[in-house]
Amino acid sequence: MGFQKFPDGFLWGAATAAYQIEGAWDEDGKGPSIWDDFSHTPGKIRNGDTGDVACDHYHRCPEDIALMKELGLQAYRFSISWPRVMPEGIGKVNEAGVDFYSRLVDGLLEEGIEPTPTLYHWDLPSALERRGGWPNPDCAAWFANYAELMFSRLGDRVKRWITLNEPVVVASGYMGTEMAPGRGAPADGLLAGHSLLVGHGLAVQRLRALHPENEIGITLDFWPSYPATDSAEDAAAGHRMTEALGWFPDPIFLGDYPAVMREAHGNALPQFGEAETEAVTQPLDFLGLNNYSRHVVKHDPKAGPYQAAILPPQGPVTAMNWEIYPHSLRDLLLWVNERAHPKVIYVTENGAAFDDRVDADGRVRDEGRRQYVRDCLSGVHEAIAGGVPVRGYFVWSLLDNFEWAQGYAMRFGIVRVDYETMARLPKESARWYSETIRANGFDPDQ
Ligand code: BGC
Repeated sequence: MGFQKFPDGFLWGAATAAYQIEGAWDEDGKGPSIWDDFSHTPGKIRNGDTGDVACDHYHRCPEDIALMKELGLQAYRFSISWPRVMPEGIGKVNEAGVDFYSRLVDGLLEEGIEPTPTLYHWDLPSALERRGGWPNPDCAAWFANYAELMFSRLGDRVKRWITLNEPVVVASGYMGTEMAPGRGAPADGLLAGHSLLVGHGLAVQRLRALHPENEIGITLDFWPSYPATDSAEDAAAGHRMTEALGWFPDPIFLGDYPAVMREAHGNALPQFGEAETEAVTQPLDFLGLNNYSRHVVKHDPKAGPYQAAILPPQGPVTAMNWEIYPHSLRDLLLWVNERAHPKVIYVTENGAAFDDRVDADGRVRDEGRRQYVRDCLSGVHEAIAGGVPVRGYFVWSLLDNFEWAQGYAMRFGIVRVDYETMARLPKESARWYSETIRANGFDPDQ
């Protein structure tokens, strides 16, 4: 195929999230979050792991910035822990927490790395969960007030903001029991989704008022659906599942939930009031996309709200048991571009967990991860050539870290973390990624 060069100015980064790397869960005035509570509940997390210490990034931040510099990263996507800066979620500000993020931003800028904070990557202050959490419509305004605090403190230096990470997963924390807060209440998930959308929109409005020169977007995750066979029934099931992916992008870009959701959920799905629509449909500077795999689906009248059964992985899998299917990223980019016409797209997460091992010579030869990232990037290149406005890519993740319900058993990093010593060790995938950044492209056959 030959060398695949990316457009000039293409932004190369890596991503993390506060709860997954920071540790220091109760230090310097931080309040607890629903993930602290969840991981402290016996039986919720594999091996009883918690994020109490995680990668100890809170104390090793300068070292981690130096590592990013060494790898040649141009941008770093991290998340801000809401209860670290507002321990109760509303009211009192914890200045020590704000200072931590302010130092992080300054440290990144000194090294020429663009800070790209996400305001919410799943760690709701526990105090707000006690008030009803995201299913409470008030949560939208609580979030906007917290967002405004961060815009006012960091907006002079941060130029690109992400409101929410993967609201589908946040809502699933209310619907199911595997992610915090784990309520197992499907109707609450739909209510949570609604507040998340409104909270996102209100935050966009606050940023426009305070720092109109800054950019803002949202990060959505998708597992594209492919029909299992070419029968008309399976194609229709695949179509319904694809339409249902519109849960978050459709209200933002098209003004309402997809029809397939209204049909499936009836009155359990809230309606947007006029002011809500105004907020939710605020034009965005970019859309962030996360992708890890795909779903292959089959018509099944008994399966879920969309009568579609998700089949087991159809080929080789990662350690997460997710099918290794790099084409899904390209397909997703084409689909989103066609449906939502975002001005700009950043791939804000993409990567893979494998059971890495350290070889006798001290190297981690994570060829599976390298090939997965390479093939996904090849798809990004193809999408760009097809006219999709992708302007950057953030690999998930900079570091091995706390993989939610899977604890530390799953390693997604391009840099290995030794959880005994906290030593950081760039894997071979990190070396390849550095070289790709330097060359602004790569040879897909190597
Ligand atoms: C999340 C990350 C997570 C990754 C791998 C995404 O859903 O944003 O926090 O670690 O996927 O599961």
